[in-house]
Amino acid sequence: MQKEPACLEILLTKIAFILYGKSVYKDFADRLPLKGWEHVLDFGCGMGTVAYYAAKKLPLGHLTCLDISERWLKTCRKTLRRYGNINYLLWKSPVLNKKSLDVVYCHFVLHDISHGELEKVIQLLVESLKPGGILAFREPLNETEKISLIKLLVEQKGLILKDSRITDIPMMGNALESIYIKE
Ligand SMILES: C[S@@+](CC[C@H](N)C(=O)[O-])C[C@H]1O[C@@H](n2cnc3c(N)ncnc32)[C@H](O)[C@@H]1O
Repeated sequence: MQKEPACLEILLTKIAFILYGKSVYKDFADRLPLKGWEHVLDFGCGMGTVAYYAAKKLPLGHLTCLDISERWLKTCRKTLRRYGNINYLLWKSPVLNKKSLDVVYCHFVLHDISHGELEKVIQLLVESLKPGGILAFREPLNETEKISLIKLLVEQKGLILKDSRITDIPMMGNALESIYIKE
């Protein structure tokens, strides 16, 4: 069963968002290849740290914020209350329509998912992408085994690496940021 965050974890995340919103979360959102009309999924949205910046880049598009935790999703609704182009989904697989999304992004989520579940999750995310769609993720580089597994699974599903970089995230260390395309 998914552990719901404690009040302290939510508070600390809110403080990190205030302190590092632009340098960490906006920085990632800015590198997503968005033109403004796309249908986008934030998988594991948490309190909406990245979604807060991604939603602004979708004046004609739509953002789905999905999380396994009811409490994070409730906090996310509060963060994004001013936006009209968002819907919220509590993760119960499979809830995603096939070939319905232009971009799926995961920010510090995939490394937290067990080996067994990760294969199912990546398959569903890839299936939800339209041809030409983008899967982007940023995950901590010190999770070497998990990073290797994520890359293997994504490439086994036929996605092609378009861009990759290592970024130094305040308080969190180095992270791998990759953008894949579904051909
Ligand atoms: C470290 S937080 C990152 C939150 C947000 N992406 C950010 O960077 O601020 C990980 C988030 O992923 C969610 N999560 C973990 N496993 C998940 C799963 N299997 N499906 C959907 N969300 C999941 C957690 O509830 C949590 O909100």
